[in-house]
Amino acid sequence: MVHKLAPVVLLVLLLTVLTGFASAQTAAPQPFRMLASQANLDIGAAVALQPLLNDPQYVATLIREFNLIVPENALKFAVLSSAPGQYNFSGADYIVDFARANNMKVFGHVLVWHDRIPAWVLNGGYNRDQLLTILRNHITTVVTRYRGKIAYWDVVNEAVNPTGGYRASLWYTTIGADYIETAFRTAHEADPNALLFYNDYSNEGLTAKSDFIYNMVKDLKARGVPIDGVGFHMHQRLDFPPDMAKMRQNIARLEALGLQVRITEMDVQINVSTAPLAERLNQQAKFFGDALSTCLSFSVCTGFTSWGFTDKYTWRSPDTPLMFDSAYQPKPAYFAMNNAFVSYLANLGKVVPEPTVPSLVIQTIGRPVPGQVLTVAFKLYRMAGLYGLETRCQIPPPAVSSGGYTDGDLFTGGNSFVVNGGYNPAEGSWDIAASRLRPNPAISGSGTAFTLRFTLAQATIPVLTCTALAVDAEGRVLPLAVITLSG
Ligand code: G3I
Repeated sequence: MVHKLAPVVLLVLLLTVLTGFASAQTAAPQPFRMLASQANLDIGAAVALQPLLNDPQYVATLIREFNLIVPENALKFAVLSSAPGQYNFSGADYIVDFARANNMKVFGHVLVWHDRIPAWVLNGGYNRDQLLTILRNHITTVVTRYRGKIAYWDVVNEAVNPTGGYRASLWYTTIGADYIETAFRTAHEADPNALLFYNDYSNEGLTAKSDFIYNMVKDLKARGVPIDGVGFHMHQRLDFPPDMAKMRQNIARLEALGLQVRITEMDVQINVSTAPLAERLNQQAKFFGDALSTCLSFSVCTGFTSWGFTDKYTWRSPDTPLMFDSAYQPKPAYFAMNNAFVSYLANLGKVVPEPTVPSLVIQTIGRPVPGQVLTVAFKLYRMAGLYGLETRCQIPPPAVSSGGYTDGDLFTGGNSFVVNGGYNPAEGSWDIAASRLRPNPAISGSGTAFTLRFTLAQATIPVLTCTALAVDAEGRVLPLAVITLSG
């Protein structure tokens, strides 16, 4: 692995697709992901499967900006299981593999929720013992499958009423409040290294609801239940601004219990106001910037995730609640978040490096045809503090349900291949190696220029994504360029 390449200073790469197409380069501010890595924060976005498979700009923007993803729907009980004991993990597997291929963490949403319970559970007429068995089996099945691959679990979501007290969900009314404790204990048994969260909405400030949650998690902690933190959804609307002072007090009291906090589903509705659009966008930006600054100011606030990232795909549609517009252009909210990072890092005395390579290269070609030869050229740059690069090319399976790419030529299994490189100062040369490459694709070159050439054997390829990641001396992964080839 490039991470293990010897003390090297270095590098990177600019990818250009040499198939006779013009390449579009967008100068952009330092991506969130690069800033977040210096701030030791997970910067996340919820992702939907269809755009991940079909929309190259979605893929490119996601990889460039975020270091964590949350499956928006793919891990919900009703999505996974349509009959007793039967699971279809194809969508969730694709998302988890995508994250791993792009050095992103995964926040698993959600194990126990009152919504999206399969009909066979909801209408099964099960008694307490039977439902406890179903709950335990579900958690064990899902967490075990992703042990070591999903860093955080949203174990129990939205279990508390807006005015406090337990929500009268199927779980509560059939099992009782101890379903929560059982859920955490079962998840911990299945993956002792995963961090386990209680997650809810309208719980970031000081209210009857957040008081109830505070007392609930305090009691769980006191009884040794394995809970690591509390998530604040932060689905916001302009006409109800969050109170940052109260949010700070709430984080502080949770911190005192030894818990982490995370912002887990943030978005900001703007169509609830009649103010001019520019004003609403600036207010939206302030919500995002303030929430991120508040999170950054607490070491126990370990992650900031928005519920999507582009207004093109949002559960709030036709509202436009996110930081990229439908054309993937950054909105004021994006720049407010960027400023929050930069201010935080400046206060720590950390210098935010200027981007030295284009932060994004997107190349889109027409639908590839069998036999077409594609060439990706790598130009390598020395960069202070960076010593390695890793380029991964990932192609989705033609049908998610097929469980893998079946080309048999381009890939030797799985759906990605990896090119690693680093500067070897002893030799004064670059070392480039590729894994999972057979004669097709092939890598060639010398000096600072390398070429990856491959022939497509598959008629229809929705999206092929090649991502260039640099690895710095501390092992942090920084995105440098993204190429997507789209059919
Ligand atoms: O995929 C089907 C599609 O095949 C069908 O044609 C269409 C017709 O309605 O439905 C599609 O599924 C929808 C799915 O989103 C994907 O778009 C479901 O009906 C719809 O219920 C589902 O809504 C999701 C909702 O949770 C309920 O699961 C939203 O996308 C998702 O953003 C929302 O997320 C929740 C969190 O899980 C918990 N916190 C609140 C948050 C927002 O409500």
